[in-house]
Amino acid sequence: MGSLHLSNPTVLASGVHGSSLEKVLQALRFGAGAAVTKSVGTVPREGYPEPTLVEVGDGMVNAAGLPNPGAKEFSRQLGKLEGKQLPVFVSIFGGDESEFAEVVRTLDRNDFAAYELNLSCPHVAGVGTEIGHSPDLVAKVTKAVRANTKKPVFAKLSPNTDRLIDVASAAVEAGADGLTAVNTVKAFPIDVETGKRALWNGRGGLSGSAIRQVALRCVYDLREEFDVPIMGCGGIATWEDAVRMFLAGADAVQLGTSTLDGFEVFHQINVGIIEYLERKGIARLGELKGGAQSGGTPK
Ligand SMILES: Cc1cc2nc3c(=O)[nH]c(=O)nc-3n(C[C@H](O)[C@H](O)[C@H](O)COP(=O)(O)O)c2cc1C
Repeated sequence: MGSLHLSNPTVLASGVHGSSLEKVLQALRFGAGAAVTKSVGTVPREGYPEPTLVEVGDGMVNAAGLPNPGAKEFSRQLGKLEGKQLPVFVSIFGGDESEFAEVVRTLDRNDFAAYELNLSCPHVAGVGTEIGHSPDLVAKVTKAVRANTKKPVFAKLSPNTDRLIDVASAAVEAGADGLTAVNTVKAFPIDVETGKRALWNGRGGLSGSAIRQVALRCVYDLREEFDVPIMGCGGIATWEDAVRMFLAGADAVQLGTSTLDGFEVFHQINVGIIEYLERKGIARLGELKGGAQSGGTPK
């Protein structure tokens, strides 16, 4: 993906396992080609009171409130990666471009592969989608990050906007090397027994199988417009889901909710992809990329 070389195209998505760096390293040991940390901001945040997570039909809704130890403490933890050259993406968030820049300056000397900008958290006011739905703010944030690091920068986009392409353009023009699509879909789960909101915060982000088709459409739309690397994310649980993402135009896939049942899913998906390529006589994964883009209707 651009200047990054991953051993395989499956990546742990940000945040699903909390702030522990250990879980990120564990995902790599289980066969993920890369892993993204929980999003980290300038100062420590406790996050919201319980309940922060609720299972719904074919997915779940979370409103964790971006709990994280803050950039200084996280920088200390990232010290463990020194000399290891692991494919770790650090996810960062902030309230404006100066906060994003401050986080980068605090973390950047550490030995990790790339950044992912969380421009898309749907349940925390002032950060996330308030920025991620505005091309102007996305341009400012991306420029500020770009000015403070030489590492690759991926912008993680929200599906909750009709300005997906404008926002992505703003990020790419301001220096983002790649895109991650998508974060969770804004939702409001209700508990029928109590008759009340199911999450402390009310609004949360829907993830898992329920959002797979939305994520596919977003990746398809982005690939129509951009040549930069794209990581497809949203509801991926099987090799078929991953292959569909590649056909839509993704270079790699991120897995979040499906990893809650175990990190074996990385190996299973990778084996499935290899068997599919062999069965179809396709020599390189890259040949699949964007295959569904060429138009025409299926017979
Ligand atoms: C509990 C939980 C916490 C999450 N925390 C973050 C986060 O800190 N930063 C971020 O960019 N995305 C976060 N996400 C979004 C995921 O990285 C991913 O974009 C989303 O869940 C869709 O992928 P999935 O359907 O495979 O889970 C979180 C998702 C969940 C379920």
